[in-house]
Amino acid sequence: MAEELASEEQVAENNRVTILVKPNGSMKVTGTVDFVDSTGNVLGTRTDFSLCRCGHSKQMPFCDSSHRAASFEAPAYMGPINQEIVKKV
Ligand code: FES
Repeated sequence: MAEELASEEQVAENNRVTILVKPNGSMKVTGTVDFVDSTGNVLGTRTDFSLCRCGHSKQMPFCDSSHRAASFEAPAYMGPINQEIVKKV
């Protein structure tokens, strides 16, 4: 059973970056994130945005709502989080 999703207010209160997987759509990132290249250079910083997970965006890695025209279907629940994988990231 999936854990209950936090509200946007709860996410803002805990002062952490959170990724919300939306049903049939993007992954909504709440918080401020640095985009860093392989040598550690910060390429840019963004706050509160959505990442594409359908593969149809023309503005990768960001969602441009192309998932709607593509009729992208995927559940919000992605299964239990493998704690061993999380530790490696
Ligand atoms: S999830 Fe929105 S364009 Fe891919």
